[in-house]
Amino acid sequence: MAGDREAGTAVVTGASSGIGAEYAAQLARRGWDLVLVARRADRLATVAERLGDGVAVTTVVADLADQADLVRVTERVAQDDVSLLVNNAGINGYGAFAAADAGLLAKVLGVNVVAPTVLARAALPHMTARGRGAVINVASLLAFAGSLPPVPLPHRAVYAGTKGYMVTFTRTLAAEVAATPVRVQVVCPGLTATEFHLGAGDTPVSGRERVHDEGGMPPADVVTASLSALEAREVVCVPGLRDADAVTRLTAAERALREDSGLVLAPRYRPATGDGD
Ligand SMILES: NC(=O)c1ccc[n+]([C@@H]2O[C@H](COP(=O)([O-])OP(=O)(O)OC[C@H]3O[C@@H](n4cnc5c(N)ncnc54)[C@H](OP(=O)(O)O)[C@@H]3O)[C@@H](O)[C@H]2O)c1
Repeated sequence: MAGDREAGTAVVTGASSGIGAEYAAQLARRGWDLVLVARRADRLATVAERLGDGVAVTTVVADLADQADLVRVTERVAQDDVSLLVNNAGINGYGAFAAADAGLLAKVLGVNVVAPTVLARAALPHMTARGRGAVINVASLLAFAGSLPPVPLPHRAVYAGTKGYMVTFTRTLAAEVAATPVRVQVVCPGLTATEFHLGAGDTPVSGRERVHDEGGMPPADVVTASLSALEAREVVCVPGLRDADAVTRLTAAERALREDSGLVLAPRYRPATGDGD
């Protein structure tokens, strides 16, 4: 594959398996040097070894839910050789909300929301100053579909909420930097064949490489879609969506909602005034 014109150093979080390991592989083939971040040192080393000698690879063992570790990763992302940040690490914390461990839910917010936000904040100033760079945020189709059937719903309110944040954060930031050369993308995979569903995310998965029982899209296809969308400057990338106009229709529905919403209380909320009401 031809190298990327803009290749420099890419930081990929959650690079020890699944979609993140695939970003590492595809970016290495395009000539990017890599900084790979995750908790499992052994798995990061395996991913790094598979990338071969053609590119410089550094691994950073860090728990993005841990404040001190996040600071270490943030300092690396803030260095001005970083031209691409892939905020991919994520955990699901699945479980009935009212019974869920509050500490685990805080961790889901830390890994899925706080870390990507802080890392993007570290990357944007030097990308903007140099006039090039990109941030890819990995969300999920559940950002849009979290409340849709099947009934009963799988227990995923906080996870879907974090991915909704990623979509809104990215789209709003993309509008903010639209006049600059910096590109921002959110990728929304559906079910993907990774280790993601083997655990809730509180402890790393070890030893097992089983995919979800229902299979899913190969992670290679998710990453191919994302990198192709980046070249096309597509802000919302949905790898399995055949009709890309669905995203345009969503934007049109949002615009209508905002434009139809005035400063006068909607009649249906007005208190009844008696007399036949
Ligand atoms: N698989 C799906 O069906 C699916 C669908 C839509 C979106 N996604 C999203 O895709 C992204 C990647 O997930 P995946 O499917 O590739 O699953 P995965 O194979 O489980 O990968 C998750 C990655 O995140 C890392 N990670 C988890 N907790 C971390 C922490 N506290 N600190 C640092 N790294 C951490 C993991 O590494 P360590 O365990 O070594 O830390 C691993 O490298 C996630 O954001 C997920 O929400 C997945």
